[in-house]
Amino acid sequence: MTAQPRKILLGVTGGIAAYKSPDLVRRFMERGADVQVVMSRGAQQFVTALTFQAVSGKPVRTDLWDAAAEAAMGHIELARWADEIVVAPATAEFMARLAHGFADDLLSTLCLASEAPITLAPAMNRQMWANPATQANVRVLTERGVRLLGPASGEQACGEVGVGRMLEPQQIADEVLARAASEGSLKGLKVVVTAGPTRERIDPVRFISNRSSGKMGYAVAQAAREAGADVVLVSGPVQLCAPPGVRRIAVECAEQMLQAVESVIDSADIFISAAAVSDYRAQEIACEKIKKTGETMTLSLTRAPDVLATVARRASRPFLVGFAAETENVERNALVKLTAKHLDLIAANRVGDNLAFDVDENALTVYWPGGKQELERTSKAALAHQLVEVIARRYRERERKAGGACSAVVPPMSPAAHAAG
Ligand code: CTP
Repeated sequence: MTAQPRKILLGVTGGIAAYKSPDLVRRFMERGADVQVVMSRGAQQFVTALTFQAVSGKPVRTDLWDAAAEAAMGHIELARWADEIVVAPATAEFMARLAHGFADDLLSTLCLASEAPITLAPAMNRQMWANPATQANVRVLTERGVRLLGPASGEQACGEVGVGRMLEPQQIADEVLARAASEGSLKGLKVVVTAGPTRERIDPVRFISNRSSGKMGYAVAQAAREAGADVVLVSGPVQLCAPPGVRRIAVECAEQMLQAVESVIDSADIFISAAAVSDYRAQEIACEKIKKTGETMTLSLTRAPDVLATVARRASRPFLVGFAAETENVERNALVKLTAKHLDLIAANRVGDNLAFDVDENALTVYWPGGKQELERTSKAALAHQLVEVIARRYRERERKAGGACSAVVPPMSPAAHAAG
């Protein structure tokens, strides 16, 4: 049985990044999506409608008052046709009009008239992005469930450097389609996610920590939320905002992380342990700042609690997902942890080669008893959706085997169907 192609209405508004949008059409189509392009008047100053017609194979819609186009498919019909609306690039002006519910051209009317999820890939000068007016519109749109991809930071067409660049077409396509694939897969389930590093205090001014930025765990929490789960995120100290709709509990050290997890784990269906928890903590925390004395010094460390292993020992335990960040023997180490910590699934990655810590991209190999699946290198957001999809399938498979009633929601996947060798 082949899946229905995802019907994407691609809105293009008037920014210089519009020159990348034909490539985005191609990337969507390569992945089997059906794309209808709608251009704003401004967009047509940058790229012609003919370019989009050539790459999408469909006449481009540009005008609310085009009688011939309306006769073929009225704008309300077009709004209903879309499974998803993606606007790339989305200018500051378009975001302002969307935030205020304007409907004075075809694209803004379609956004108002459609029930489909809306994703924006903003592109603008860094000052325009940072302007309080734009930021207020971003807040309004995000609160209403509009999803933003980017903008990225870097060199801009205007010669300035800063936040405002549109994400690359490949990344937009990966994230949109990965999210679509996991849509609704965790509906009705409660998921607890840990993320970020922990900090183990040594004295009032020092602590032991690690390079985890929390990006992967936060992306997983957001992906789980977008897949329909009720998500609690237990987070170590990071520089990230809580994803929309996710309840965050902020903690500092491993002990606090364990307590926070234990306070919410009873009703959880799935526990995803993405935090880089310290394995050791200072045996004693000095009350005063430790002064330098000799040439060397020794710090006594003792084991910090293993949050994941503690949850795994519970009599009624949720579906358990661990992470393994390794510098060598990735597969062997991951399989040892899968067995030793009695996990249902483990996501393993190599640290280094600009992967894993404090970067935006990652690649994972997911193992479960008797199977594995490779998730290729891509943005952490796209990867998180792919991981959530695998987790959802394995969870439903376990429920089905245990005689649960949920197996009808997502068809079970045989390990062989997705095993990557
Ligand atoms: N983990 C945890 N609490 C700890 C240490 C690890 O919950 N104190 C979790 C991590 O969130 C991850 C998994 O256990 O999901 C594996 O973590 P990792 O540090 O790679 O494994 P360890 O078992 O600690 O082994 P090692 O550090 O020796 O590689």
